[in-house]
Amino acid sequence: MKIHFAPLSMPRSGALVVGVFEGNKLTPAAQALDKHTRTAISRAIASSRFRGKVGDALSVLSPAATSLSRIVLVGMGDPAKLDELKMQTVGGTAYAHLSKTNETAAAAAIDVIKGVALGVGDLAANFAYGARLRSYRFDKYRTKEKKEDKPALASFAVMTREVVRARHVFADLDKVADGVFFTRDLVSEPANVLYPETLAEAAKTLTSMGVAVEVLDEKKMQKLGMGALLGVGQGSVRPPRLVVMQWKGAAKNKKPIAFVGKGVTFDTGGISIKPAGGMEDMKWDMGGAGVVIGLMKALAGRKAAVNVVGVAGLVENMPSGSAQRPGDVVTSMSGQTIEVLNTDAEGRLVLADALWYCQDRFKPQAMVDLATLTGAIIVALGHEYAGLFSNNDELSKHLIEAGKAVGEELWRLPLGEAYDKMLNTDIADIKNITGSRDAGSITAAQFLKRFVNDVPWAHLDIAGVAWAKKDQGTVPKGGTAFGVRLLDRLIRDHYEKN
Ligand code: BES
Ligand code: MN
Ligand code: ZN
Repeated sequence: MKIHFAPLSMPRSGALVVGVFEGNKLTPAAQALDKHTRTAISRAIASSRFRGKVGDALSVLSPAATSLSRIVLVGMGDPAKLDELKMQTVGGTAYAHLSKTNETAAAAAIDVIKGVALGVGDLAANFAYGARLRSYRFDKYRTKEKKEDKPALASFAVMTREVVRARHVFADLDKVADGVFFTRDLVSEPANVLYPETLAEAAKTLTSMGVAVEVLDEKKMQKLGMGALLGVGQGSVRPPRLVVMQWKGAAKNKKPIAFVGKGVTFDTGGISIKPAGGMEDMKWDMGGAGVVIGLMKALAGRKAAVNVVGVAGLVENMPSGSAQRPGDVVTSMSGQTIEVLNTDAEGRLVLADALWYCQDRFKPQAMVDLATLTGAIIVALGHEYAGLFSNNDELSKHLIEAGKAVGEELWRLPLGEAYDKMLNTDIADIKNITGSRDAGSITAAQFLKRFVNDVPWAHLDIAGVAWAKKDQGTVPKGGTAFGVRLLDRLIRDHYEKN
């Protein structure tokens, strides 16, 4: 779908989208159309359950006195509460509604409204961004889908008085959407296609955008002493990789902010094998790495004025004759020895080496990791919030605020010495499970903490939010790319200034 911005006008054909506020108060564009169509709009509203709430949409077909094929009413909620995020949902809702029709061309009239804090150019840009985000579709393997079952919308004109401002604001948002789409593509790919080598190749494509990408193979990781990460990969015929990406958008002497992602391209559990039911979900156990890679794409795309490092630990966790066994002791790059009591608690083993490597080599000003780390975070928070764990209150606050601003919300959970103690064992420095189900997400985070030293650090457990089972707002069902928008926003608000 092509999105473009244009001045307000009356289209001669296709669909026209206009806004309606809660309580069915028409926007100026809707009012004018209502008059023009001899009250077709108000009559349609009266006979429907449309209430003008954000998320509502209603088609008025073949409206009288126009040559339009339809008018689409979209709910805008309470004007006093209309912000960037709501406007994105409005755009996503409009797109979703149109995508189920035969319309190939649509236009949306975004006009000046009293009581709305944002300017129309910004409203138009966010509407367009939401529409684009919702238009994502992973259909490359549907070879028999009929054309009439695919979305038909090819062109979407967003009409506003402030075309220049809208284009300017949209330019950066569009690059973030590129990053989101890249992540969604990676997360959606099945594990026979996407494994450590091919995921590393995908990351390498960012080289053309100015990202420096290094790929460490098994030999290099052995030399570095990454026994924890390598232990997880040793049961698979697919060799592990460590991807190191650098975006240098600021002065050389500026310390980077670093992002580290869990990239388990498939998690069978290993010898501590998972039950068969639902195991296919474990193709998206590389979601953290996918977000880090997509984030680098977004930042490079919009040429962010910041130095950023992205590290992705890529392994496949398989049972086999060469797989690691429960009870094995491995030595991590930090020198700490780990008793692997459950081979399904593999993400923390991968991150132990990836985090240590990252802080040791880059001395970042802050480090954030993302991982589909524990089922327990879903027990605690469901699919509404990702878990946040951190050794730094300010970083936590900034992350929570950025999450609110983009609709990717975080809930902070505690860390503490009592939890840390639960990881002690007789035979090694630390064990990878506690042996109790209590506080499963916290003890996992506590494990990671032993591999980060004093760097301001945050861990995002995204197991509950990396994949959506139903369509919502700007996120179609499937891989969500939760974290790309959030971390882009964190950087924009706190690391890019000056
Ligand atoms: N990748 C899983 C966590 C997960 C579960 C992600 C469900 C998404 C949905 C992780 O590697 C894992 O298996 N964790 C175990 C840890 C346990 C063995 C301590 C878990 O959560 O059961
Ligand atoms: Mn696992
Ligand atoms: Zn896993």
